[in-house]
Amino acid sequence: MTAVRGPALTFTGDPFSDGLDATMVHEPDAIVAMADGKIAHFGPAGRIAPLLPAGTEVVDYGRDALISAGFIDTHVHYPQTPMIASHGAQLLDWLNKYTFPTELKFADKAHARAVARLFLQENLRNGITTSCVYCTVHPQSVDALFEEAERLGLRLAAGKVLMDRNAPATLLDTAQSGYDESQALITKWHGRGRLLYAITPRFAVTSTPAQLAAAGALWQQHRDCLLQTHLAESRREVALIKELFPDQQSYLDVYDHHGLCDARAIFGHGIWLDEPEMQRLHASGASIAHCPTSNFFLGSGAFDLARAIRTDRPVRVGLGTDIGAGTSFSILATLGAAYKASQLNGHSLSAGHAYYLGTRGSARAMYLDDRIGSLAAGMEADLVVLDMRSTPLIDFRMNEAGTFAEQLFVQMTLGDDRAVQATYVAGRPAYVRKTDANRSP
Ligand code: GUN
Ligand code: ZN
Repeated sequence: MTAVRGPALTFTGDPFSDGLDATMVHEPDAIVAMADGKIAHFGPAGRIAPLLPAGTEVVDYGRDALISAGFIDTHVHYPQTPMIASHGAQLLDWLNKYTFPTELKFADKAHARAVARLFLQENLRNGITTSCVYCTVHPQSVDALFEEAERLGLRLAAGKVLMDRNAPATLLDTAQSGYDESQALITKWHGRGRLLYAITPRFAVTSTPAQLAAAGALWQQHRDCLLQTHLAESRREVALIKELFPDQQSYLDVYDHHGLCDARAIFGHGIWLDEPEMQRLHASGASIAHCPTSNFFLGSGAFDLARAIRTDRPVRVGLGTDIGAGTSFSILATLGAAYKASQLNGHSLSAGHAYYLGTRGSARAMYLDDRIGSLAAGMEADLVVLDMRSTPLIDFRMNEAGTFAEQLFVQMTLGDDRAVQATYVAGRPAYVRKTDANRSP
């Protein structure tokens, strides 16, 4: 058994439905004890310390730390790591100008492996212990990522992109080949160790009705797989979907019609949805991945979180970096952007609700909240340890932050990868920051 000690934050339920008081646990001096990849004990240090076997090593992170369940990224494209920060285009042009040429290179497995390695290291540097990942159309791009994730012991979901139209010919599969290749990848990877397969039609612009139907048939045979795609990200995209699918009532209806709207579906973005679409997401149990840095970068819009989680028909919402349209691997920075997206819709997202979104809320969006996303005995031991004074400015500002809510809000407004002191995967340190805090003298 090993253990970490310090202030801790976790959630026992959903603060959007039940309030922060009933669901947020802030323990000023906690111990998280870990054995066999799971959390064995969690609670106040005074209560847990006597439970530890003699000789248990306890790493004490001190009172300026914050221990939390590892961050979760519900929507990200690992092959787009090399093209993050590409200038001057909105969604559909950006795909043609930057994304497709970048993804073509993943026919080369060695290239895919090198990018997968860097991507997963960057995740760990940012405290992300689980992500739901788009690969490219090439099956070897999926193998490369899963092989690296398996080596690191990560819980991770990923899938081969399906696209059979409206992209360069060399990047296309067919309804049949995409089905067959996905099927083979599911057999090989889904449920192997901590890995999960996500059936991944890119979006309805690049999949024919035949391919969407094939994806629906495949999901029907593998109901415990995730399904991920993009939905109503930009207004031009929504208009194009109307042209491509004149018989469907809405964008979501295109997916629904093909059996792609159900529990364990994660729809990226969902900015431009009408009320019947929201109702349908709620009724089906499907989730939205909110990707604010991407939405601002591409000029797609400001997702209305308060509307999505309306208590009369709450939709499951997780958080996504959406690299490479997203501009940061940092979940803290992404939460800061989520705050700004909410502000543009007239709501001020609280820091507590935001942290829920980056941890347990995202686990719930992936239907994994029984295994990850919170600190509790029996949960998988994936943790992030934050340094609450990671830069001179944050150190200075923290002196003025009276309440814990204020301190948390400072982190998500000013913090980034420098705030991640350590990341634990299945009970083992997978990343430890080398340099000490960048404090003022
Ligand atoms: N819609 C279809 N493909 C993509 C993609 O790769 N990134 C984003 N942001 N939106 C998409
Ligand atoms: Zn995306």
